Amino acid sequence: MPKDIPSYPPSENDPLVEGCRHQIKKTQKEYLKGVGRQTSDSIDISELNGGLFSAMDKCLEADPEETYFFFNEAKLRANVELLREHFLPDMPDRRRIIYAMKANPKSKVMKVAADAGIDGFDCATYREIEKASNYVPPSGLFFNHPIKKLNAVKRADKKSVRYFTVQSRSGIENVLKGTFPAHEGDLPEIVIRLQTPNPDARIDLSTAKYGASEKEAREMLRYLNNQRVNAFSGLSMNVGSQNTNPEAFAHGIEYMTRIAKEEGGVCSINVGGGIPVNYFEDDNFDRVAYLQRISQSIRDNLEGVFSQNAIEPKIIIEPGRCIVADTIDLVIPILERKDRENSKGLYIGDGIFRSFSDSVIHRDWRYSFNVIPKDGRITEGEEEMFNLYGESCDTGDQLIGVSLPADVREGDHLWVRNAGAYMSAQASDFNSPDPSIFVPYNSKS
Ligand SMILES: Cc1ncc(COP(=O)(O)O)c(C=O)c1O
Repeated sequence: MPKDIPSYPPSENDPLVEGCRHQIKKTQKEYLKGVGRQTSDSIDISELNGGLFSAMDKCLEADPEETYFFFNEAKLRANVELLREHFLPDMPDRRRIIYAMKANPKSKVMKVAADAGIDGFDCATYREIEKASNYVPPSGLFFNHPIKKLNAVKRADKKSVRYFTVQSRSGIENVLKGTFPAHEGDLPEIVIRLQTPNPDARIDLSTAKYGASEKEAREMLRYLNNQRVNAFSGLSMNVGSQNTNPEAFAHGIEYMTRIAKEEGGVCSINVGGGIPVNYFEDDNFDRVAYLQRISQSIRDNLEGVFSQNAIEPKIIIEPGRCIVADTIDLVIPILERKDRENSKGLYIGDGIFRSFSDSVIHRDWRYSFNVIPKDGRITEGEEEMFNLYGESCDTGDQLIGVSLPADVREGDHLWVRNAGAYMSAQASDFNSPDPSIFVPYNSKS
């Protein structure tokens, strides 16, 4: 068990626990009962300004059977600030730092990101566009799923969206149709998503499903640049999610900018997302080093990339995971333990249909579990393999072979750190479980 995890309940003099839990316990109980749970699936305890352990303590005390997402607003602001400090700080007018909202579209998360200075949102669908338009002006809406219904383009056009990603000639025609008649000075930008090799990514976002080949991209750029088409042109790339090799970005940027230069220039380039998160103790990805490498590679290759008609040249980065993953901790109740002859099982208040769908979608995706013991006992020492049984009644709803302290028991909690990206966002309502409770708080630590 990592050292910074307190036993639960925390001891009186545990320096990690902020605030005085005994004095405020009663107030908290009343607060949670009266204000939070009955009115929505979200409890806002941020005015109490406690840290993570304080928030956990209060919530588990008030209701230990619920599943909680603890969201640190201050951490999200710091993540945005880090991007602003290290992604092309020398080009503030050209760069656009946008948040891939699919990672976590919770309203509170989007609002904090927007207030922290994000320039816009990478949206995959019209409904995402609609939601994002509550937080940013139309110039901050980037419609990036390469396949779009004509109707979605038309509705986005009505919202004044001007940035559309495609991967084929028919995609270009779709955007031209959906934005017709486009007026001089208000033309749509049609961005071609390039297939970019991403062998070092945990999730392939480029070669497996989306993207245009170099030949296709060049033909499309020629069409957009040389025919009298009523649109600006752009290029985008994506080196996959959780990419463990910063050089993959540099290679992608070199490839994308070379095509742009040789085809008469573009109005924008987009380097995608994919910056990795440190999920496990052995992970040692340096986010600053990634941003510096990406920025340097853009600087090295930028000359001649933008076309003459680029009125407002843009360089876009659109991470999701590295903005939100480490801002959220997931705490799940263990509802029952059952040992059988050949296996040990824990029935938990979450599952494959909720936070852990990636274990099925991206088959070998793993999670880092900690245990919060209910009675303050020490759980260090021997570990055993457990099956985690999800709370739906589907037998396929299980995570097999999770190593946990041997004496883990009913009433303890599982704690998953870095749970902000692609977990709650992918949850379904299958079996209508009680919704997880979202608990925003502010802590600089
Ligand atoms: C087009 C696009 N941009 C950005 C991202 C964000 O990737 P990540 O969360 O790895 O930064 C994704 C993820 O699916 C994507 O599809």
